[in-house]
Amino acid sequence: MRIRYLPETLINQIAAGEVVERPAAVVKELVENALDAEASAIDVDIVEGGKTRIVINDNGCGMSEEEIKAALDRHATSKLPDDDLLNIVHLGFRGEALASIAAVAKINIKTYDKENKEGWEIACEGGKKSGVRPSSHPEGTRIEVADLFYATPARLKFLKSERAEFGAIRDTLVRLAMAYPAVEFSLIHNGSRKLNLPAVLDSQSRLSALLGRDFGKNSMVIKAEREKIIITGYAGLPTYHRGTSQYQYLFVNGRAVKDRLLHGCVRAAYADVLHRNRHPVVALFLDLPPEEVDVNVHPAKAEVRFRDPQLVRGLIISALKHAIMEGGYRTAGTVGGRTLEALDKSASGSFLPLYRGQGKAVPRSYTNNYTPAQLSANHNFYESEQVSYEINPNARVEEQPCSVHEEDAQGFPLGAAKAQIHENYIIAQIKEGVVIVDQHAAHERLVYERFKGQLEKTGVEKQGLLTPDIIEMDESDAEQLFEYSETFAKLGLEIEPFGAGAIAVQSVPALLSGRLDTKTLLFDLLDDLKEYDKATLLEEKINHILATMACHGSVRSGRRLNANEMNALLRQMEETPLSGQCNHGRPTYVCLSLNEIEKLFSRR
Ligand SMILES: Nc1ncnc2c1ncn2[C@@H]1O[C@H](COP(=O)(O)OP(=O)(O)OP(=O)(O)O)[C@@H](O)[C@H]1O
Ligand SMILES: [Mg+2]
Repeated sequence: MRIRYLPETLINQIAAGEVVERPAAVVKELVENALDAEASAIDVDIVEGGKTRIVINDNGCGMSEEEIKAALDRHATSKLPDDDLLNIVHLGFRGEALASIAAVAKINIKTYDKENKEGWEIACEGGKKSGVRPSSHPEGTRIEVADLFYATPARLKFLKSERAEFGAIRDTLVRLAMAYPAVEFSLIHNGSRKLNLPAVLDSQSRLSALLGRDFGKNSMVIKAEREKIIITGYAGLPTYHRGTSQYQYLFVNGRAVKDRLLHGCVRAAYADVLHRNRHPVVALFLDLPPEEVDVNVHPAKAEVRFRDPQLVRGLIISALKHAIMEGGYRTAGTVGGRTLEALDKSASGSFLPLYRGQGKAVPRSYTNNYTPAQLSANHNFYESEQVSYEINPNARVEEQPCSVHEEDAQGFPLGAAKAQIHENYIIAQIKEGVVIVDQHAAHERLVYERFKGQLEKTGVEKQGLLTPDIIEMDESDAEQLFEYSETFAKLGLEIEPFGAGAIAVQSVPALLSGRLDTKTLLFDLLDDLKEYDKATLLEEKINHILATMACHGSVRSGRRLNANEMNALLRQMEETPLSGQCNHGRPTYVCLSLNEIEKLFSRR
């Protein structure tokens, strides 16, 4: 085989692969061009998730005859007047987007040159340009892209469902709209309007139009500056979190980015106050001199490089942490280093192997004082305790006598409950040490396992609601939930349409009734569904849904438990497979042996 030069069309198709990955990328490039042309209104009209047609109309400066001729050529741009890649002030600069789109789709451009008061039109199909013709186009530029990827069937095959592609387009437009509140945006899909955003004065109004008033109420203002780097925006309270990081909107000099460094900063700032499987909602705008940031690292410009990443990182993390503190969500006081060390050791060393595999829970060091007979005798005890396990909000631990004989209870793997501290941790005494249980994590696992048990035997028991809960949401989100309504129904959760953009919840799993915030549950399920792809097995999906439901129906931290309730929880944990960790893989309890406690006090 000889080396040969590839034909121009093939070169363009290969290059296009990097820039135009899916319909949303076309929308991003065309809207960015309109923004660069200083449009104040941009309309996006798409058909079938952008697969068959994408039309973008703007009221920007338009192009002259010479410009429209060059616009479709590779490496032709009006945006790098000084050839200076360190001084990029527009969203575009590569002069590649239109050429790439033209290489894989049919494109038609109509424009009105404001300066010379003339209209022009050009088309391109199969990489072949038509001549420039005069046009009666009245204002700005209109670009129509049809039959995307018709020229590259391989890529066409990789497109997702219409809904998924539309979702990606909407997300793209939402991000651009956040960064440009003074520009009016509209989005139409298959003839129906999906977004209508009038121009507003500040990003706060735009954000609340896009993220809802809920976010406004549950967010903190971020504003900080260090050495010409400015960060502004809004960050959700730690209690306002979602199941994916999709709702983190990050911008660098007005450019929406999905940058690892920046996402890492957000994660690090919330690490103390949020479980790592939960993600805060943030919209952060970073502004810095153009020479401080290189945007020329990614063909779709989604990533950036900072000249001084540590400085940027430090600024973002401290700004967020400061806001979190101010928000009154102080992190727990740091545990003494030695205690932590001891706890660490206990996690690997004397972590009680409560339940491994199918057998009964018989921990190594307790085999002698703890028999299966004892366990089943107690089983009835806590089954009958279940009623009183319903949380009594007024219960105070210190006022309740412990109904289990102390000596007996200490023989159990998780021992006898002595106290509840910080309204979430149960301190229990075992024969040779202390166990600390995270009540929420533990209960979550119990509910999850009970769900699985019920599902295996009879199906999950449901409890009808006297008046259905009506939950408002985006129409496309509601549709997505309905796709799973049959599966949900098997799991006790019955939902029905309630007009456009609302859902009526008719029943919930009986295990959860009375303790459930159906609205947050539905939104979390939605987040889960968005993460599934077609390949996920139904069984896996069901487990995931059960886990999400269990999380919602579990005793929250912050609920006071009385001694009976605490002991009941410990006994149920001993009976439940895998109760040593919650559904997210966090431990549900840690154990500190007397030995270790003595070491802490230098007695050994
Ligand atoms: N909507 C528009 N209004 C006015 N001019 C436009 C518009 N879209 C494109 N152009 C002109 O066409 C040129 C080529 O656009 P194209 O998107 O291919 O490259 P670019 O924006 O310069 O760089 P990049 O490839 O990074 O997007 C632009 O530089 C601009 O001059
Ligand atoms: Mg461009």
